[in-house]
Amino acid sequence: MSELPDHARRNRAEWDARATDYVTAGREQWAAADPSWGVWSVPESQLRMLPDDLDGCDAIELGCGTGYVSAWLVRRGARSVGIDNSQAQLQTARDLQREHGIDFELLHGNAEKVPYPDASFDFAISEYGASLWCDPYAWIPEAARLLRPGGRLHFLVNAALHMLCLPDVEDAPASDRLLRPYFGMHRMEWSDDDSVEFHLPHGELIALLHSSGFQIEELVEVRPPEGSTTSYPFCTLEWARSWPCEEVWKVRKELASVDEDGSRPACGVEASEDV
Ligand SMILES: C[S@@+](CC[C@H](N)C(=O)[O-])C[C@H]1O[C@@H](n2cnc3c(N)ncnc32)[C@H](O)[C@@H]1O
Repeated sequence: MSELPDHARRNRAEWDARATDYVTAGREQWAAADPSWGVWSVPESQLRMLPDDLDGCDAIELGCGTGYVSAWLVRRGARSVGIDNSQAQLQTARDLQREHGIDFELLHGNAEKVPYPDASFDFAISEYGASLWCDPYAWIPEAARLLRPGGRLHFLVNAALHMLCLPDVEDAPASDRLLRPYFGMHRMEWSDDDSVEFHLPHGELIALLHSSGFQIEELVEVRPPEGSTTSYPFCTLEWARSWPCEEVWKVRKELASVDEDGSRPACGVEASEDV
């Protein structure tokens, strides 16, 4: 545990303590016929978090929690690996694997430092896992290292604008006022628990994605459908229908590295394709 950075050590303790609160939601998501995403359960048909053809692809879920996203990947024919920092969350994932008869590798560790060689995966995904709890200056270059040329990274997290409007008061929803500076946003802590999360301004995140070797394919500012509900207190539907409460980034590792290091391109990608 001492080799973990301070934020990962603190988040491990938080998530080991929170894990029991996530069993029911995890079980529902494992059983769901169609994926849905984020705090508003926005349908896959709207967000398209999962690439069309995953059959035979190698995927990794960074901060897999109870593992339902990996289960969806496996059901689509991918070989998935889930890494999570909390043994308690992984225990739920193992229980649900047994209940559903779906098996994939689960690793206990920090998604900023994954024990896999370079260019091991075709697709990486994070829904409020590494995308929220890991330092972007560590986990985004690590995701780039893990992906094959042309491989995709899709991640969902709280929108930057939402973080500017969220009061540091337990269970208070986002305000219609800016409550903190945008510039300099990175590591964030809240007074009601000991966790540490990370958010970057868009310009800084775009620069980091580019310098890590990613091309940006899409930024989806999530607008939940009318009538959506959530069990989370930090955003009202009125707010989320007016401003983005969550965002999805879809990026792709440049293909140039095929020639440089001899790695084969990601599944579904031709070496001659322009990325
Ligand atoms: C909200 S869950 C994400 C899983 C699922 N998609 C969900 O939304 O419930 C957040 C997960 O991130 C994990 N996590 C936090 N820091 C991490 C790190 N440094 N490396 C890997 N996982 C981490 C936590 O242990 C927790 O299981």
